[in-house]
Amino acid sequence: MTDAPRPAAELAVVIVAAGSGTRLGYGMPKALVPLGGAPLLLHALRGVAGSGVASQICVAVPAGDAELGGLCRTFAEEYGADAPAITVVEGGETRADSVRAALAALAPGTAQVLVHDAARPLAPADVFHRVADALTRGAHAVIPAVPVVDTIKSTAPTEGESAGIAAEVVTGTAVREQLRAVQTPQGFDAATLLRAHEVAAGWPDEQAAGITDDAMLVESLGIPVYVVPGDLRSLKITTPTDHVLAEALLSVEGAA
Ligand code: C5P
Repeated sequence: MTDAPRPAAELAVVIVAAGSGTRLGYGMPKALVPLGGAPLLLHALRGVAGSGVASQICVAVPAGDAELGGLCRTFAEEYGADAPAITVVEGGETRADSVRAALAALAPGTAQVLVHDAARPLAPADVFHRVADALTRGAHAVIPAVPVVDTIKSTAPTEGESAGIAAEVVTGTAVREQLRAVQTPQGFDAATLLRAHEVAAGWPDEQAAGITDDAMLVESLGIPVYVVPGDLRSLKITTPTDHVLAEALLSVEGAA
């Protein structure tokens, strides 16, 4: 059952859409890649606006882009008076840089922020509601996640004679029951997320290169990050195989 939408007057959703999409191989920014005939970003905008949680949306697009910004403006016009306020900012070199650029553009008084990947165009409204609800109940940070089905091992490059056998060797096996695959939207109270990003902006390049989501920055401050159920339909489109899977999901769901 879908929970009722919970519009919060001061909740902003940041959509990061400034990735290059190199691994997808379309030769265009990933957020423009079509899915069911519509660009990924349009699906993400529909999902966010349709969830009813956001009073404002800020989209980070690639530097120099005109098309994705135009798409946001057209969406706002077509959505009509009920559309959340949509702003567009130039993203950065890394995902964290893009999030920081969007945070700097949020309306004064923004109390809560959800950060969502444009690369997850099929995230269901329920996931947005669960994340927003947890924030309303007092969480400073909340992430949607699903159990891991594969066994996860750590590896290291092989050296010396063993390098002739294979390129990598196993160094450990994680306890699968404790592992979760983490998705977006990730939710935060605005002050916590801003502080986490301010601190991480000072990290050395090597450490900054290891930033793969926003929650890990909050974790590094010692603040609890709560986990709510994600959804397998929130898959992140990174490779051509992901794209095929998303097309199949979309045709089953009937949404375009
Ligand atoms: O590269 P990755 O798959 O982790 O990207 C996740 C999301 O972050 C995508 O929606 C992508 O557009 C966004 N991103 C961004 N700015 C970057 C790199 C990625 O907004 N510099």
